[in-house]
Amino acid sequence: MTGEVVRPRELLSTAELHSGVRRLAAELSAAYDDGLLLVAVLKGSVPFLADLVRHLTIQPEVDFLAISRYAPGTGRVRIVKDLDVDIAGRDVVLVEDIVDTGLTLTYIVGELARREPRSLAVCALLDKAVRRIVPTPIAFTGFRIDDEFVLGYGLDFGERYRNLNRVVAGDLADLRARPDAYVAGLFAG
Ligand code: IMP
Repeated sequence: MTGEVVRPRELLSTAELHSGVRRLAAELSAAYDDGLLLVAVLKGSVPFLADLVRHLTIQPEVDFLAISRYAPGTGRVRIVKDLDVDIAGRDVVLVEDIVDTGLTLTYIVGELARREPRSLAVCALLDKAVRRIVPTPIAFTGFRIDDEFVLGYGLDFGERYRNLNRVVAGDLADLRARPDAYVAGLFAG
């Protein structure tokens, strides 16, 4: 197996991603005024946020939050980099790469809601709705996807594949055995 070139299936092409992001930017621009605060969750949301802001016709402010999980799937999350700004009285949109069980988002939304923003909504690029454990309202959704492990456009496995310009479906067993399994197939030439 070592050295075998494996090409995972493409789920969303660059063009599809960009048209989804443009649609979300139009929806946000219609729903909010200048001064909207976009809170992006590091690190997976960075490519999405970067494309999203470039299509907004309103003037947003951007801030970042970083979290770490105590143990996957438990929903126990800790903020390791907090926001720089006070969100009290602000219109806030939380920008997420993917919502899976919803546990992470529920924690973050709860934490931000305690700070009394004027409004708080979620904009998620990908929604794995079938995996949801806790109900998680998502006001702005890019794409609904099936229960698959996805990589690219910010999403990683062990910090790899974030820089892929499209989204592919990976096999977790392959990746656990060989985290670099798709590197040659996705990036070479
Ligand atoms: P949740 O708490 O189960 O909703 O998990 C959300 C987080 O898990 C996301 O912000 C990602 O960091 C990670 N995640 C969930 N599904 C995937 C995936 O398919 N690929 C990569 N990361 C994922």
